[in-house]
Amino acid sequence: MKRIGFLTSGGDCQSLNATMRGVAKTLYENCPDVEIYGVLEGYKGLIYGNYRKMEPKDFSGILTEGGTIIGTSRQPFKKMRTPDENGLDKVEAMKSNYKKWKLDCLVILGGNGTHKTANLLHEEGCNVVTLPKTIDNDIWGTDITFGFQSAVNIATNAIDCIHTTAASHSRVFIVEVMGHKVGWLTLHAGIAGGADILLPEIPYDINSVVEALDKRTKEGKKFSILAVAEGAISKEDAVLSKKELKAKRKANPYPSISYQIGKEIEEKTGQEVRITVPGHMQRGGEPCPYDRVISSRLGAAAARLIIKEKYGYMVGFKNGEIVPVPLAEVAGKLKMVDPDSSIIKEAKGLGICFGD
Ligand code: F6P
Repeated sequence: MKRIGFLTSGGDCQSLNATMRGVAKTLYENCPDVEIYGVLEGYKGLIYGNYRKMEPKDFSGILTEGGTIIGTSRQPFKKMRTPDENGLDKVEAMKSNYKKWKLDCLVILGGNGTHKTANLLHEEGCNVVTLPKTIDNDIWGTDITFGFQSAVNIATNAIDCIHTTAASHSRVFIVEVMGHKVGWLTLHAGIAGGADILLPEIPYDINSVVEALDKRTKEGKKFSILAVAEGAISKEDAVLSKKELKAKRKANPYPSISYQIGKEIEEKTGQEVRITVPGHMQRGGEPCPYDRVISSRLGAAAARLIIKEKYGYMVGFKNGEIVPVPLAEVAGKLKMVDPDSSIIKEAKGLGICFGD
């Protein structure tokens, strides 16, 4: 008999259910005496002892369902070692529930912060297998995360919709795409949508952005679209310390970076600017077929690791192959866009402006 806990943590994304289904179906098919328990609302459920026994029917009909059937929450890694308001030691509580529920393994689906805690639990003696979830595609050790492609589709669709209205009104539009620390989503949606692109990894100079807009105007193009990552940063701000930047942003009247960029463009070009923020729509709705396939494959591979009792790994996707990646290699690292990578060079070759 194997008792397996499922846990989804951090911001949700489209293909969490499809991935859990992949793990569950493979386990039920190949390990007849398996029991699956859903830990509710991420690490919160593991800390405070909330879980429910899952049945095979719970995993039917969820391949196309967004969100997560067991709920999620954000439990920052940096606060894991800080006792809660009642003095509870969270790490000890998680270990104690893991033992109390007699789990053989925890399957943890999450992003960067989630992986740091998963690695901690592994180091503390719990058996863990993880799966790379996030629309940001920023997890180290895997070329692709599930959720990313679905979000690219939505962000691209937002840019596509903006195209017709931007053209009719001869305006500059900014579409703000999710991603505070990394710009994969903005990069892919920007290329797919034919926009200029500002990323956290390539600090911009507003004058370069304005030059690119002026060039378009001179070429007779009546509108422009900029795909701007939430975490886009100017060259000026990129050299500030974390503390200085925080203070500057606090004093800043703009709700997000796009509004600041929009105002500067209006002042420098005299063109009318509109801002669109698709926000959490990018994480919502059903997973695209690509994500359903990748989730099913990653899920099946995670189940195979559990059957072989090979713990302490994230199931990643490298060069077209599913590979186990040691958790210690994944935890604490971010996969960022390399400004010198070929995708950036190709995009620049197409005439896309990155503001640098
Ligand atoms: O990590 C996924 C993500 O959607 C980021 O792209 C975004 O910056 C952040 O989460 C938003 O977080 P929240 O859902 O807590 O507002």
